[in-house]
Amino acid sequence: MKNLIDIMQLSTDELQQLIDRALDIIANPAKYADSCHGKKLATLFFEPSTRTRLSFEAAMYELGGNVIGFSSANSSSAAKGESVADTVRTVGCYADIIAMRHPKEGAPLVATRTAGVPVINAGDGGHNHPTQTLADLLTIYREKGTFENLTVGLCGDLKFGRTVHSLISAMSRYKGLKVVLISPEELRVPQYIISDVLEPNNIPYVEVTSLEDAMPELDILYMTRVQRERFFNEADYMRLKDSYILTPDKLRTAKQSLSILHPLPRVNEISVTVDDDPRACYFKQVLNGKYMRMALILKLLEVNV
Ligand code: CP
Repeated sequence: MKNLIDIMQLSTDELQQLIDRALDIIANPAKYADSCHGKKLATLFFEPSTRTRLSFEAAMYELGGNVIGFSSANSSSAAKGESVADTVRTVGCYADIIAMRHPKEGAPLVATRTAGVPVINAGDGGHNHPTQTLADLLTIYREKGTFENLTVGLCGDLKFGRTVHSLISAMSRYKGLKVVLISPEELRVPQYIISDVLEPNNIPYVEVTSLEDAMPELDILYMTRVQRERFFNEADYMRLKDSYILTPDKLRTAKQSLSILHPLPRVNEISVTVDDDPRACYFKQVLNGKYMRMALILKLLEVNV
């Protein structure tokens, strides 16, 4: 595998290898400290980011490599009209690997055709976010010790939440998965997730609007932000933005073993009063993202440690 554009490019065996590598990095950081010496990562972010960009950069520094890049389209020659294809062809002359976020779905795939170096999709529009899924999977694995026989509730903006689409696809390959899709009518998961992922894999799923009703059966609760930047109409965003707000009161019927995930950033959908609940895993997820990105960089650069 030369690029990572879609999480489904990784088999479950390859996912497990990345998880095992990340766990080894956590246990033995010094072993990896010079593993990417002399290598450069370019972070090309045409859309805002805190976690993804900075965790990629931290990952490369902790592997002993260097980082170049830009954090907004306006600070690159995209602002002068340069195409994605020309931008990455240029950056491929300077860097050994590229992590790219772009508002247009498919832009990282287009980038693979001219980059000449591995390209990682760091989020493309409302489509996919495979490295967030790597962070999610390591978090689930560390919390549950397995991906099998889990009931996973995904709550909020299931239409535009690209992390939801990647996570459902990745989890669809594990035995005993049940999916509870919790959203307002207008923000239901795209039809292709049902017709191309859930139904062909015979995964039991329900689409509901009440978080409270779903809560008692969940092993994982994956909260998401309503994606303001994907709405065409501000009035619709204002109407839907507070559809779900997780509070300690709403967790009263939840399992003690529940794990609460959120890709972050959060706006209002998890009260800060939940943060000290031992079931809140979203800041562990942030850190797990860095380790999985380290493991992925090593894999794509074919570095043996
Ligand atoms: N989860 C995530 O993609 O966060 P950022 O937008 O801050 O990178």
